[in-house]
Amino acid sequence: MSDLASMDAAGRTAPVLDLDPFADAVLESPFEMHAALRAAGPVGWLSKYGVYVMGRHKDILPALKDWETFSSTGGSGLADIRKPDAWRPGSPIVEVDPPQHTKVRTALQRILSPAVIRQWRQDFEIEAERLADEVVAKGSFCGVTDFAETFVSTTFPTALGLADSPQRRDNLFLLGALNFDGQGPRNARYEATQRKADEIWDWYLDSMKREAMLPGGFGEKIFQAADAGEIDPEIAPLLVRSFLRGGLDTTSSMISAALWYLAQDPAQWQLLRDDPTRVRGALDEAMRLETPIQNVCRQTMRGVEIDGTTVPFDSKILIILASANRDPERWENPDRFDVMRQTMGHLALGNGVHMCIGQMIARLEGEVLLKALVSRVSALKLTGEPTRALNNNLRSLATLPLSITAG
Ligand code: HEM
Repeated sequence: MSDLASMDAAGRTAPVLDLDPFADAVLESPFEMHAALRAAGPVGWLSKYGVYVMGRHKDILPALKDWETFSSTGGSGLADIRKPDAWRPGSPIVEVDPPQHTKVRTALQRILSPAVIRQWRQDFEIEAERLADEVVAKGSFCGVTDFAETFVSTTFPTALGLADSPQRRDNLFLLGALNFDGQGPRNARYEATQRKADEIWDWYLDSMKREAMLPGGFGEKIFQAADAGEIDPEIAPLLVRSFLRGGLDTTSSMISAALWYLAQDPAQWQLLRDDPTRVRGALDEAMRLETPIQNVCRQTMRGVEIDGTTVPFDSKILIILASANRDPERWENPDRFDVMRQTMGHLALGNGVHMCIGQMIARLEGEVLLKALVSRVSALKLTGEPTRALNNNLRSLATLPLSITAG
């Protein structure tokens, strides 16, 4: 798309922004870029990538709700998945609009109903307590690799019904990294992840097949929904693919972010000790501040005016959820972690028809794990600087050195 595409019908242009949301330094700390983006107006033109960009909460929320104008069919990332050489077939849930989306979403909502997820609680609690005992016995541990990742890579694939194997954990995290790197540009980071993923491609393809789903898991139920005619048979493995690629890293990122903020502020930890039901607030606040999925993309289905700037028909828009989640016009003291904050309205789980379908699962995982720690640990401390795992769209820590005082 040429620069002219950024000119609106009235001859006004969206400001051309020389910003790079995918540069290493920005991925390390994107907050200055977010502020520049919000200051630039409701919508800007990212010259480096030839896409529009939005960063203000008040403009993003209505856009997410308006799927008829802001369609998901162009792809959840920067690449246009409608092109014949698209990097992968579109997701049959994230990258479709109603009415196709409604049919698939309804079937999945039945498979992942609150009643079904509640049945997993006990198994999740047993694993959370085992793991919390383990880290308490160690005294110091990595909040990411020893704790958050260990937990989600045990509980979630088992609920899905993917058989355990020595490579399951590493392979699933690699697929997650590929999924989220793939939502950004075709840069060196993406290429490197794709090369690593090429080595496990056969395992990946096999893991989304019906034969890979153990009886009783929700993966099996997706294939049964196809048997019952609720969804088309060819999309069943692609739905399993969406879960293999999107359900682990996000949840692990949320949990380790919560631990990171809590370890920096003993008063916040004490608030959880006083009332462990507050772990829910801590998780939402960590999601708001760190926004595991930083961006989603939409494609305009008509020329649309966003707060005075017109974006032409068929334009890709990068919607920076992470920027909306710290927008000072929406949040008081936006950078402060406060487990008592009213976090309703944060956009870390999206909004509108595509709002995260796995949020109950993510919340359940986070809740049982943090509660298990809160009940055993009187003080949580950082023992070194955490490091980041840089990814084009997933914001997460690679390491989080922690020590604990039991009690
Ligand atoms: C803290 C953890 C999580 C975060 C931050 C997160 C974030 C998101 C976001 C932002 C969206 C909206 C995408 C869009 O609008 O284009 C979404 C959708 C989705 N998420 Fe999650 N997610 C999380 C956990 C999970 C889990 C555990 C699962 C698997 C059970 C999951 C499966 C999905 C699916 C299938 C969709 C697409 C829903 C649709 O298009 O109707 N997510 N998620």
